[in-house]
Amino acid sequence: MQLIDGKAISAEIKQEIAREVEQIIASGKKRPHLAAILVGHDGGSETYVANKVKSCHEVGFESTLIRFEDNVPETELLQKVDELNNNPDIDGFIVQLPLPKHISENKIIEAIDYKKDVDGFHPINTGRLLKGMPCFISATPYGIMELLKRYNIETVGKHCVVLGRSNIVGRPVSVLMSLKGNPGDATVTVCHSKTHNLKEVCRSADIIIAAIGIPEFLKADMVGEGAIVIDVGTTRVPSDKTKSGFKLKGDVDFEQVAPKCSYISPVPGGVGLMTIVALLKNTLLAAKKEIYL
Ligand SMILES: NC(=O)c1ccc[n+]([C@@H]2O[C@H](COP(=O)([O-])OP(=O)(O)OC[C@H]3O[C@@H](n4cnc5c(N)ncnc54)[C@H](OP(=O)(O)O)[C@@H]3O)[C@@H](O)[C@H]2O)c1
Repeated sequence: MQLIDGKAISAEIKQEIAREVEQIIASGKKRPHLAAILVGHDGGSETYVANKVKSCHEVGFESTLIRFEDNVPETELLQKVDELNNNPDIDGFIVQLPLPKHISENKIIEAIDYKKDVDGFHPINTGRLLKGMPCFISATPYGIMELLKRYNIETVGKHCVVLGRSNIVGRPVSVLMSLKGNPGDATVTVCHSKTHNLKEVCRSADIIIAAIGIPEFLKADMVGEGAIVIDVGTTRVPSDKTKSGFKLKGDVDFEQVAPKCSYISPVPGGVGLMTIVALLKNTLLAAKKEIYL
């Protein structure tokens, strides 16, 4: 069994990005600039955004964090989105999800200029993804594909089972795995809460990508010998062993499943770290105008 080391790969990619930033600055151009809008004080969102800001500094990006309280009117948020769309110094920006109930996430996402949509959630980017056209690929699926690529994991002709069909992970990663290319060219089965015979479907997989959000859902008897398992799940569970009072659990029962795998990604230390570098990569692409002019 080989561990897929998201920590090592993400550090390697950050170094690559930092080198590119140095070249950009040396050529007299401005630093890539990522902005993040954070609404409210959700613990998970606070942590994600803090990590994104920290990572920006590590690679030499400029970053701006814009905060609103939970009760911000939708119109005010839309106004800020419009302002960022029109600010030439901002190359890309994200609105950290989830948003409070009174705000329509779809409305906010659609208001973002797709050329600055480095989260890849705008319908133009998701539509282009479906067609295999250049676009901002949402960060977690992008990170997963990069891990497969950097570990030279063969996906062509393989049966890939994706657990989960969310707009941010399951569906886009299932599309990427089915598109032409390597990684890609896989035969993909997408499973969800209504799937029958989940155990049998999973057992027939060469590659399982688990993104459902139920800690240790995938057990050893659901995995065939030699399978490749990518664990996307990150559920906070209470813990008296950590300072924060919680720890992150993946969707895979790692202890049981790992011995059966040829490759497996751990939680933490797997996909999560790749998600952040994928966002940095998208911001770099936006700054270099490599996807859209
Ligand atoms: N590492 C990272 O950077 C990162 C990024 C994003 C998300 N995540 C984590 O990944 C996990 C999934 O996130 P998400 O946003 O994709 O979740 P989500 O929107 O809640 O979607 C969960 C998906 O799992 C399916 N599902 C739920 N119970 C199931 C069951 N018993 N059997 C089969 N499928 C089942 C759901 O099916 P239905 O569609 O039928 O309801 C849904 O499609 C979460 O733990 C999240 O925290 C991690």
